Amino acid sequence: MSSQDLERVVDMVNGYRQTCLLVAAAQTGLIDRVDAGAADAETLAQDLNLNLNALQRLLRALQSLELVTREPSGIISLSPAGQLLRKEGFGAGLRAWTDLVGGEYLRAWGSLSDTLKTGEPAFEREFGMTVWEHRRLHPALNESFQRVTSGEQRRTLSGILRSYTFPTDACLVDVGGGHGGLLLGILKKYPQAQGILFDLPQVVQEVQAQERFRVVSGSFFEAVPKGGDIHLLKHVLHNWDDSQCVSILGNCREALNSDGKILILENLITDDDQAQIMMDIHMMAVLGGRERTVEEYSGLLTQAGLELVTTQPTRAGAPVLMEAKIRS
Ligand SMILES: C[S@@+](CC[C@H](N)C(=O)[O-])C[C@H]1O[C@@H](n2cnc3c(N)ncnc32)[C@H](O)[C@@H]1O
Repeated sequence: MSSQDLERVVDMVNGYRQTCLLVAAAQTGLIDRVDAGAADAETLAQDLNLNLNALQRLLRALQSLELVTREPSGIISLSPAGQLLRKEGFGAGLRAWTDLVGGEYLRAWGSLSDTLKTGEPAFEREFGMTVWEHRRLHPALNESFQRVTSGEQRRTLSGILRSYTFPTDACLVDVGGGHGGLLLGILKKYPQAQGILFDLPQVVQEVQAQERFRVVSGSFFEAVPKGGDIHLLKHVLHNWDDSQCVSILGNCREALNSDGKILILENLITDDDQAQIMMDIHMMAVLGGRERTVEEYSGLLTQAGLELVTTQPTRAGAPVLMEAKIRS
């Protein structure tokens, strides 16, 4: 054992401290208050109704992490790194993720050993409901999740447009498409195409239909809107176990036009991609889903009466595009 090993393991064991500090700074409104205007600890404690002594110690910890700066006069501001936790602007997705960590993920990950015993998502045992139901009941968390996915859609749009040529006048259905940013981005590049955004009612209820862009709510376990030439399934299947994936894919196959295509966009898992390996544990603990290899996706497609046609990378670290069609 080297001293580096020791240091690494100590950091791993104590990793919870930094996460909880960030969550507390977000949940108490401290980040937003400091973002709105630099102030001293007394003013912050008063404005946020916090215990002054506890706040001063939290601020010292945030300063040690270089997330806030403190002037000699005691005025606290967000550092450039701390600004990444602001609700708006460049770090908005990261902040939304911090809010989800505080509101949902910490508790699920904290019970990971339950998942190891049962194979079931710890989230459901902890909260007594699925993550989707929890977000239906907590619209602020639903909004945070949509912020994360909308940001990710913006980042992946250009790679998808570069990697795939859509039929010019196709009807595209984004199945589990969130707030529809990706679909609208594709429609912008293909002015003769039509789009249907399909997601749960609580997700799409405030999304406005537009010319060439319809919004349909429902569950893909019941049915998927008919008439699509292309179904997009981006970061949907990794949320679900194999039999649920086969059921979603089967409903897509039922609804798809006979010569249509299903485009699955997912990050593939490999033994040397730590971020993806951690995402797999996240899927297991929170949703009961998993990250998969291309062979595993191909196997699910076969079970649903579909077949994999091509696999294309979009860009490094981004989802891979797997094109499938109805098996002849
Ligand atoms: C991980 S997000 C991916 C969103 C989007 N496709 C993207 O990649 O940005 C999964 C989406 O599936 C939706 N979803 C979950 N259960 C669903 C269901 N039963 N029917 C339809 N959509 C569902 C969620 O609301 C969410 O928008």
